[in-house]
Amino acid sequence: MKLQILILFSSLIGLSLGAGGGIGGSSGSSAIGSPTETENTRLFKKDQSLLLTCDYNATNVETTWKKNGTEIEPNDHFQIHSNSTLNITSQTESDLGEFSCLIKGPGEEEKYFYLVDLQLHKHLPKSTTVLENDKLKLSCLVEGNPHPNVQWLKDGEALQPDENNTRLVFSANTYNVTNAILLIQPILKSDYGNYVCLISQHSLHLNTTTEVRVKDIYAALWPFLGIVVEVTILCAIIFIYEKRRIKPNLAQADMDDINEQKNAADHSNETEVRQRK
Ligand SMILES: *[C@@H]1O[C@H](CO)[C@@H](O)[C@H](O)[C@H]1NC(C)=O
Ligand SMILES: *[C@@H]1O[C@H](CO)[C@@H](O)[C@H](O)[C@H]1NC(C)=O
Ligand SMILES: *[C@@H]1O[C@H](CO)[C@@H](O)[C@H](O)[C@H]1NC(C)=O
Ligand SMILES: *[C@@H]1O[C@H](CO)[C@@H](O)[C@H](O)[C@H]1NC(C)=O
Repeated sequence: MKLQILILFSSLIGLSLGAGGGIGGSSGSSAIGSPTETENTRLFKKDQSLLLTCDYNATNVETTWKKNGTEIEPNDHFQIHSNSTLNITSQTESDLGEFSCLIKGPGEEEKYFYLVDLQLHKHLPKSTTVLENDKLKLSCLVEGNPHPNVQWLKDGEALQPDENNTRLVFSANTYNVTNAILLIQPILKSDYGNYVCLISQHSLHLNTTTEVRVKDIYAALWPFLGIVVEVTILCAIIFIYEKRRIKPNLAQADMDDINEQKNAADHSNETEVRQRK
């Protein structure tokens, strides 16, 4: 009997764990993302040097370099070479921003560069499960200087709050990046789909995706009903088994009783006989 109770409890625990795992479960996140630099948008690397080249074919030219619109005076920090290259000898946060260059000569065009800091601290989970009528909060943990643009896509289409969709709310994340948090409340069945946080900063692009699954409330109830059914069946099995085991024992006990009574009767007869003697 003890063994059966043990089996019953262990299966109960197993079932409830299985049911619990189904709700709100989201699989592990992958490695932290970093975008690939482009020729014109460079990622900030503290204390490292940075070379910006206006024209790779240029030699012995005079180049004007500007930082955020102000002409750069060459010094130890900014070196301007005759091959149209600007060398920032050791990057500091104050170098973040826009650079432009113009080679002296007819028909030359200004060229723009951006030095930015951009980090995605965490990817969205591969999947996110929400109960119908509950709320969904997706946070894009991106940080950047200057702040990057964040846009949310659902199955490839841009999400925007409008007069017909007041369930959507966008807000800034802890790094003050606007639109980085998406809140949908309440969640409808039709909200399932692939949600992409699209990050862009000049020519750098990054994204992270989660598959949103919507569970209806009854779906959450099924595992519970499963437990109830299993417990009922197990109890019935134990009950029947115990009943079958006790029956032959009872029959045996009855036989013993009868024998004892018989013996007792024989005994009393004997004494009677002895007394008669
Ligand atoms: C450099 O010059 C070569 C040949 O003149 C040309 O094909 C190439 O596009 C030039 N590169 C740039 C960056 O202007
Ligand atoms: C331009 O000249 C500087 C100094 O000589 C050198 O470090 C840099 O690599 C050159 N850039 C190109 C594109 O040749
Ligand atoms: C909201 O819905 C109305 C009627 O269904 C439609 O005419 C209008 O264009 C919608 N507004 C937006 C911003 O989608
Ligand atoms: C997200 O990034 C991947 C890898 O860089 C890229 O292949 C994909 O097109 C991007 N998705 C969107 C919606 O931009």
